[in-house]
Amino acid sequence: MELKDEKREEEGTEKHLPVVESTEEGIKVTVGSVPHPMEDKHYIEWVEVITRKTERTYKTFLSPGDTPEAVFPVNEKDVLFVRTYCNIHGLWKY
Ligand SMILES: [Fe+2]
Repeated sequence: MELKDEKREEEGTEKHLPVVESTEEGIKVTVGSVPHPMEDKHYIEWVEVITRKTERTYKTFLSPGDTPEAVFPVNEKDVLFVRTYCNIHGLWKY
């Protein structure tokens, strides 16, 4: 098993840091201020939300061709952090 470093600042032209917005169902996480590519060879594999109040983890797996976003039944103020994983550029945390 390989321990991945979490990147916290954007680098390069592609955007990986999650953008969180409140919805009626909870929160919507979009990967990248400019949507990240979702191509066969380069895509976001998953989006994960960890909450502080209930200490629960929510994770959505994505596939090439999907929209780089996920909705979670979580109140935005309970979000401890959000992580995303790009198959080429690694792990990102907000
Ligand atoms: Fe990427």
